[in-house]
Amino acid sequence: MQIAIIGSGNVGGALAQQWIKAGHTVLIGAKMPLSEKNIQLATKIGEDRFTSIPRAVSQCEVLLIATPPAVIFDVIDQLGDVSGKVIIDATNSVRQKPEPYDTVYHALADKTNAEVVKCFNTTGFENLLNPVYHDEKLDMFMAGDSKTAKKVASELALDVGFGTCYDFGKTDKVQLLEQFALSWINLAIMQGQGRDIAFRVVRR
Ligand SMILES: NC(=O)c1ccc[n+]([C@@H]2O[C@H](COP(=O)([O-])OP(=O)(O)OC[C@H]3O[C@@H](n4cnc5c(N)ncnc54)[C@H](OP(=O)(O)O)[C@@H]3O)[C@@H](O)[C@H]2O)c1
Repeated sequence: MQIAIIGSGNVGGALAQQWIKAGHTVLIGAKMPLSEKNIQLATKIGEDRFTSIPRAVSQCEVLLIATPPAVIFDVIDQLGDVSGKVIIDATNSVRQKPEPYDTVYHALADKTNAEVVKCFNTTGFENLLNPVYHDEKLDMFMAGDSKTAKKVASELALDVGFGTCYDFGKTDKVQLLEQFALSWINLAIMQGQGRDIAFRVVRR
């Protein structure tokens, strides 16, 4: 797939590396001049992958948004025509909502004609870089109304190395997925268990 990543910090940078390894074409839509974090990422994935947001979007069929939620309106203004494209929202608005919307997913679904899905938000970026614990693959989770976007997100989750990408449900489950992310943040950070911790679905 041709994937544009907007927001290439901890989360976007991890997914960029994983998707490149899996054979996808990845472009980073970044602010210029490149930030320190992006200069560091460029040493790993190559500077030629970095371009402006509108150029990255125009060349790709799938977009990942992994910016702070507060800048989503600035980002949307730069996307150009995204009708028919898939947008994966990996952000969490649990601490700061992109008012008047509850989440970035809701802003994207309302303000663009894209196929939107929430995915890759429920675990720490370290688990995106390495989703395998003791030979067991972690699970990923997604929510949203678009079947097309869910199919793409699910495929890309498996390409990162997750075992299964569980469908939480439609738009009404997007905030549940953000609360699920908060559950990870609670255990890993607030309760001090450390970031090398993750969720996996087990069945009897
Ligand atoms: N950290 C985690 O483990 C984790 C896990 C799951 C979900 N999340 C969520 O994912 C999102 C990103 O988190 P992160 O930790 O990856 O953040 P981060 O490391 O701070 O990266 C943020 C990225 O957004 C870019 N950005 C900021 N303002 C922008 C704008 N106006 N236009 C375009 N790009 C802009 C930054 O570019 P510059 O470098 O050029 O400023 C940077 O590439 C957040 O919503 C967070 O809640 C985080």
